[in-house]
Amino acid sequence: MSTKVAFTAYKLGEASLDNRIVMAPMTRLRAINNVPNELIAHYYGQRAAAGLIISEGVSPSPNGLGYARMPGLFSEEQVKGWKLVTDAVHKKGGKIFAQLMHAGRIGHPLNLPKGAKLVAPSAIAAAGEMWTDQEGKKEHPVPQALSLQELEETKNEFIQAARNAIAAGFDGIELHSANGYLLEQFISPFSNKRTDNYGGSIENRTRFVLEVATAAAQAIGRDKVGIRLSPYGIYNDMPHYDEIDATYTYLAEKLNDIGVVYIHLVDHSGMGAPEVPLSIKKAIRDKFKNTLILSGGYTLARAEEDLAAQFADLVAFGKPFISNPDLVERLRKNLPLNIKLDVSTFYSAEAKGLIDYPVFEEESVNA
Ligand SMILES: Cc1cc2nc3c(=O)[nH]c(=O)nc-3n(C[C@H](O)[C@H](O)[C@H](O)COP(=O)(O)O)c2cc1C
Repeated sequence: MSTKVAFTAYKLGEASLDNRIVMAPMTRLRAINNVPNELIAHYYGQRAAAGLIISEGVSPSPNGLGYARMPGLFSEEQVKGWKLVTDAVHKKGGKIFAQLMHAGRIGHPLNLPKGAKLVAPSAIAAAGEMWTDQEGKKEHPVPQALSLQELEETKNEFIQAARNAIAAGFDGIELHSANGYLLEQFISPFSNKRTDNYGGSIENRTRFVLEVATAAAQAIGRDKVGIRLSPYGIYNDMPHYDEIDATYTYLAEKLNDIGVVYIHLVDHSGMGAPEVPLSIKKAIRDKFKNTLILSGGYTLARAEEDLAAQFADLVAFGKPFISNPDLVERLRKNLPLNIKLDVSTFYSAEAKGLIDYPVFEEESVNA
């Protein structure tokens, strides 16, 4: 029997998790016509031994589908598709939250369905390019700034998607307020130059995300709403600004008042991003009394350290879950991990690179 904290059960709101190992949200872009399918259900089912799976980014709105083949959660067909996924995970005793990700200005009209548009807090294009299946890489165009009425509509889309997630069998949702997508586009003074109540001061820049969190908690219960944040992240053209610490400390305080079930912190310094100062992680831990999930470059040894020190309550693993469908089993039994990751199939449309990574036994038989 392992005495490691990582393999002990954890109560996340009303959900009983078998262990403290979370599968981090990872976009895989296999949802043809933005609808999840059997292939995707198979992939998540293979990984159901995680204490909690957080799904890939799922758009609450046609406007938020910035990436080709990104799944949505705003139509009946999509709810049906996700039911395949949640059934596959629950059948094996796992738990799964849907990550609600509105891509905002990170996208391209070629990736959007008819009638949808690229929107953001302000009409400022993100530096960088976006893959389109039709024409390859294209620069991010200038998005349309959301009017106050559209902002209200966007909030309602998040709320409806949260309800749809529950209808599809998800155990909860994670608001993607990290990595430069719509919710973080509101938080950053570089992408948000609004002069109304949603731009300018810290209170104003965080207003939209806090309103969405409040409304989602009212709609499906605060025990079912988590949020992902990436202070000091630079992904998707998010430069640093003077008030990062003050902004995220304020957010943590307010999210604590709302009573969301967890904050999930991103740290991509292992992937070449700037260091996330320990001080901001500690400040968030201090202000936010509910569950804290840490992520980014974790090994079991590092996870165990942070869990045992009660710095993190749960630890998320990303890439190791791509190439090790049986990651929890391998960690528990101290088996070697498959570190051969095929980056070329991260976002491709096929089964290859999604469901064909072997579990440990098969690997040794085939060796
Ligand atoms: C292929 C891939 C897709 C990802 N997609 C998402 C996503 O949809 N939402 C998100 O919040 N993070 C996403 N991430 C970031 C991961 O959740 C995680 O933070 C990152 O991989 C660092 O953890 P790791 O070192 O354990 O891989 C993605 C990462 C990878 C490798």
